[in-house]
Amino acid sequence: MKKQTPSRRKFLKTAGLTTLITASGQVNSFARGKSQSKINSRYDFDKVFNRIGVNSIKWDGAIRKYGKDKIIVPMGIADMDFKQMPAVTKALMERVEYESYGYEMVTDEYYQSIIDWNKNRYGQEIKKEWIRNSSGLTSGMVPALRGLNPVGGKVAVMTPTYSGFNIEIKKAGMRVEQSPMKKINGRWKMDLEDLESRLDYETKCLILCNPNNPTGECWTADELRALGDVCIRHGVTVLSDEIWCDIIRKEQKYIPYASIGEKYADSSITYKSAGKTFNQAILKVAYFFTQNDDLMNAAMVGGGHQTEVNIFGQIATEVAYKKGAKWVDGLNQYLDSNFDYLVDYINTPGEMPGIEYSKPESTYLAWLDCNGLKEKVATADKLKEGQTPEDKLSEWLIEHAGVQLNAGHVYGIGSDGFLRMNIAVPRVHLKLALDNLNKALKSII
Ligand SMILES: Cc1ncc(COP(=O)(O)O)c(C=O)c1O
Repeated sequence: MKKQTPSRRKFLKTAGLTTLITASGQVNSFARGKSQSKINSRYDFDKVFNRIGVNSIKWDGAIRKYGKDKIIVPMGIADMDFKQMPAVTKALMERVEYESYGYEMVTDEYYQSIIDWNKNRYGQEIKKEWIRNSSGLTSGMVPALRGLNPVGGKVAVMTPTYSGFNIEIKKAGMRVEQSPMKKINGRWKMDLEDLESRLDYETKCLILCNPNNPTGECWTADELRALGDVCIRHGVTVLSDEIWCDIIRKEQKYIPYASIGEKYADSSITYKSAGKTFNQAILKVAYFFTQNDDLMNAAMVGGGHQTEVNIFGQIATEVAYKKGAKWVDGLNQYLDSNFDYLVDYINTPGEMPGIEYSKPESTYLAWLDCNGLKEKVATADKLKEGQTPEDKLSEWLIEHAGVQLNAGHVYGIGSDGFLRMNIAVPRVHLKLALDNLNKALKSII
């Protein structure tokens, strides 16, 4: 493989630090941060891995949008700032060196790695003939929506949930039917009465996010069965997006929707990939499966699946699933300790005024309740036309803390006053972000 030229490597090594250190004088530089995490893993998640200068949406996208001197720690789009698992990089380099990229068949080893990962980690039995491939979870869902829902019909989601569902539902030519969840004692609960009242002859699909982005619930078997019973009663197919299933807090358990009983497995399609778990989103390989052949046939009518799979994504999935169990365990430990650090910081009286937060059950996303802040910021700084209070808040935090968080409203009804923070970053960045937010918030409250 052709090595990077020294000048490019040098640029990548220094570009991040330059940006961070030349940021406006209000904010702290990296020099102050020092990781305290003690992680029992041979992988070094503390190491800062520079992502500036390679078109990363999180870093370069934010810098392009808001300005180089404004972005200190971007914590928006859901990918991780950690280096790829070494065994994956090694396998990809070996494949690149074989300089032929013509059509290739999907290997049995790839399918077996999917089967083994799901069996070994979650006890779930999947057969090879049930599996189809797509270039992403969401792109795999569009044809299923077209095949299963009436033309122009409605697709149910329970909000707050992943904003990409709206985009894909609209791409499929459908309308989004939002059923707001309720936050009870710090945990979001499905409101099945509300959901049931919305299911009619136009609504034949529900997209479930299991576990849920952005609120982090690992749905229990009882919760999933109760949801499934409502869906089955109304002839609604559950499209269960389980992309977050491997990123789970220590004391939590992920329950695959298709594992809770035959009738639920029969009336659902599960969507997965190694993309979130191993930070391989841009390699564009995902898979979906159901034990119900008729359902799969109906879901395939809209096209969109792939017989062949991008070779690099295929190799990355296979190697990660075969060799990555320890890496994911180390990652989860690291994220656990990042969450502990975040929760301690926010809940130390006076340190993060206006924000409420408790540790989630899964994902690396913190769904921060900033309702105590939005009025203050909105009155300190007028809303522009069309701007929501969450947009304003997000913009204000970039301006005053150099920290980019996602504005809540795109995650649907119930998201007012929330911001989403991605904490899959080295501790030194998390600390820097929180110290900067602390300073900025103390200046207005
Ligand atoms: C719940 C959920 N589903 C799907 C996706 C996107 O997956 P893909 O890039 O494979 O379409 C994301 C990305 O953040 C997500 O959070």
